[in-house]
This record gives sequence, C-alpha cells and structure tokens, in this order.
Amino acid sequence: MQEDVLFQISNGLFVISATHKDKPDTYAGSLVDTVCQISINPHLLILSCTNNSYTKECIEHFGEFGISILPRNINPFVVANFGFQSSRNINKWQNIPHIQINNLPYLTEALGKIRTKVIETRHYNCNTLFIAEIVDAFDYAQGEPLTYRDYRSDFKNKAQEAFSDYQNNSLSETTSNNLAQQATTPAPQNTDTSDKKHWVCTVCGYVYDGEIPFEALPEDWLCPLCGVGKEFFELR
Ligand SMILES: Cc1cc2nc3c(=O)[nH]c(=O)nc-3n(C[C@H](O)[C@H](O)[C@H](O)COP(=O)(O)O)c2cc1C
Repeated sequence: MQEDVLFQISNGLFVISATHKDKPDTYAGSLVDTVCQISINPHLLILSCTNNSYTKECIEHFGEFGISILPRNINPFVVANFGFQSSRNINKWQNIPHIQINNLPYLTEALGKIRTKVIETRHYNCNTLFIAEIVDAFDYAQGEPLTYRDYRSDFKNKAQEAFSDYQNNSLSETTSNNLAQQATTPAPQNTDTSDKKHWVCTVCGYVYDGEIPFEALPEDWLCPLCGVGKEFFELR
C-alpha cells in the first residue's frame, strides 16, 4: 500500500476538549485532524482518537467533547502543546489562552467552537471512533482554517521549534528548582532506575528501546509500528 496516497486526504486541524476524569475542575485536550461532519439532519460528526490518547479516555467517561477549529495563523505552540504531549502528565490548557463555556474549554483564537454529545462509540485495534450529535456551534470567526496539508508542508517544523523552546525553558526551570532544592535537601542515597523514562509513540504506543539514543536518530526516522515521524514520540 502507498501510504503517501493516504496523506492526500486532508482535513482541518482541531483541538478537542474534555473534562479530566481523574482531576476534578481540570480538562484534557488533544490535537486531531479526524473530525468530519457526516450528517445535517440530524447534525452529526465523527471523531477518531488513538487508543492511548488520554482525551479519548475522558470522552468515553463523560460522553461529551468540545471542538475548537484552528485558524491558519494560529501560534505553532498551540499545535505542539496539544499534539506533542499527553494530558495524563500535564494541564495543557494552562499554557494557552482559552475560555470556558458550560464546563468545557475552547481556544480563544478558534474560528468556531462546537459542543457535542457522543451517541455511538466504535472500538478498533488502534483507534476509537465517536459518532457525536452537534449540541451547539458558536463564535463563528472569519479566517482560513489550518489544514493537515499545511501541517505536513511547513507548519510541522514551526511546531517542533516551538516545542523544543518550551521544553528547554521547562528544563531550565526544573534545573533551577532542583538546584534550589539541593541546597536545602540532603542528596538521596538510593539510585533506583526502575522509573526510567522511555520515548513512546503517541499514535500507537510503541516504546523505543534501541541502542542509539532516541535524540540521535535521523530526523526522517519513522515509528516501526505505525509509521509516524519522531515528533509523535514523547518521553514518559
Ligand atoms: C498533526 C497531528 C494530527 C493528529 N491527529 C490525531 C487524531 O486525529 N486523533 C488522535 O487521537 N490523535 C491525533 N494526534 C495525536 C495526538 O494529538 C497526541 O497523541 C496527543 O499527545 C494526545 O494527547 P492526550 O493524551 O492528552 O489525549 C495528532 C497529532 C498531530 C501532531
């Protein structure tokens, strides 16, 4: 099969929001390209989530989700924030301007916002498909939507750059916090490595365990399981 043919299918890009199922009063969120309206009467759409997405777990738990439609001039960090890390480990919404409407957050900069209620769920090996009723569509704004094609042609690099800046800043903050802590805390004697982190594919869950350090792999290296690039991996 020629995978490139499938990349010619280009949808928009969206940020999905859902209530966090483990931390009350916070929210999960994920970047997706698999939202598609499938019926007008009744108003229905589909969303496909990878099975290791935490947002997917939250949608299954509460049976509802919000959609923010991304404009083409969105800050690339928004794409990185919602697409390159998991809500399991971080509150992504605290990094991004948003508004909360009826207990779901939406991006302030969205071209439109949609609230949905899940009416049917289908489970597949790698993905879960939600068929959802459109409960409300609001805050229409003029502008060009960002597409998956834009992402693949040049937006991906900008998002990756924004994400490394963010990681470097977080790293230097953590380092200075650790240094401050070390000044007051005696050094631990135990060097247990059982909680060592691994690079994990956020699309299929493959755990990289090769001899070459993940960072040193060539930029065009692909996940051997599902074929996505390095930018879909995160340290867990
Ligand atoms: C361009 C792009 C498109 C993506 N499309 C989807 C998608 O359609 N469905 C999905 O579940 N994940 C998709 N992802 C991956 C998720 O955004 C990513 O796994 C995220 O870390 C999940 O976060 P969560 O664990 O908080 O749900 C996409 C990522 C990128 C960069």
